[in-house]
Amino acid sequence: MIAILLGGPGVGKGTQAVRLADETGAAHVSTGDLLRAARREGTELGRKAQAYMDAGELVPDDLILGLVREHLAKLPASGDVLFDGFPRTIAQAEGLDRVLAETGRAVDRVVVFEAPDETLVKRLAGRRSCPRCGAVYNVHFSPPEREGICDRCGGELVHREDDHPDTVRRRLEVYHEQTRPLVEHYEAHPADVVRIDADRSPEAVHEDFRQAIAGARR
Ligand code: AP5
Repeated sequence: MIAILLGGPGVGKGTQAVRLADETGAAHVSTGDLLRAARREGTELGRKAQAYMDAGELVPDDLILGLVREHLAKLPASGDVLFDGFPRTIAQAEGLDRVLAETGRAVDRVVVFEAPDETLVKRLAGRRSCPRCGAVYNVHFSPPEREGICDRCGGELVHREDDHPDTVRRRLEVYHEQTRPLVEHYEAHPADVVRIDADRSPEAVHEDFRQAIAGARR
């Protein structure tokens, strides 16, 4: 089962993907997390991606497709995958189709998480993330048990640099201009797309998400 999580910055894609991956054993593939890891490790990709990420712009498609192809090769060939924050452009969606077709696979489900921009701006202002395991918290809505420490792995939590309000505004523009058109792209295959109202509690969103993915497995 191959699923794509689509939605604006801060809508809860990472929160929901980590939780469902924990529950089901699916692989969680977040291109944002992979890029941040590349930056921490100081790789050539990390250096190339840095300026784009800091400005809230998309990293070029060829770099992203190379990264995803390389990462998929390390995963079990027939395992479930939750793509979080990828694809983000039509070119990436077409590239993903080509990469999956090489192993006889295809996208089974596209889940679109929807919430107003004002909600996303508030959430990102309070977000704290664990660079080690990818767990996500919010100082207002879902704080960790111990301030600054990840409940899941004990890692030190960080406030992402691109969660600065000016960068968040640019990320939202980029989402509406370049990524949102993917909803129509995938709706050309209506059975694949499920929309979820993400402006609700994480538990309510999770229940709908779980059902959307279970529906794709049948
Ligand atoms: P990326 O890391 O993918 O960021 P994003 O898509 O902007 O998404 P976020 O991680 O900000 O938000 P999320 O939806 O995962 O929300 P979260 O669960 O954390 O990308 C970063 C950058 O990398 C991009 O700008 C780009 O430069 C580059 N990049 C990455 N992928 C790329 C690609 N494919 N192509 C090109 N460039 C790429 O939740 C947010 C907060 O809200 C948290 O604090 C959480 O606790 C809280 N929260 C979650 N759900 C709820 C809820 N229901 N109620 C209340 N609070 C909630």
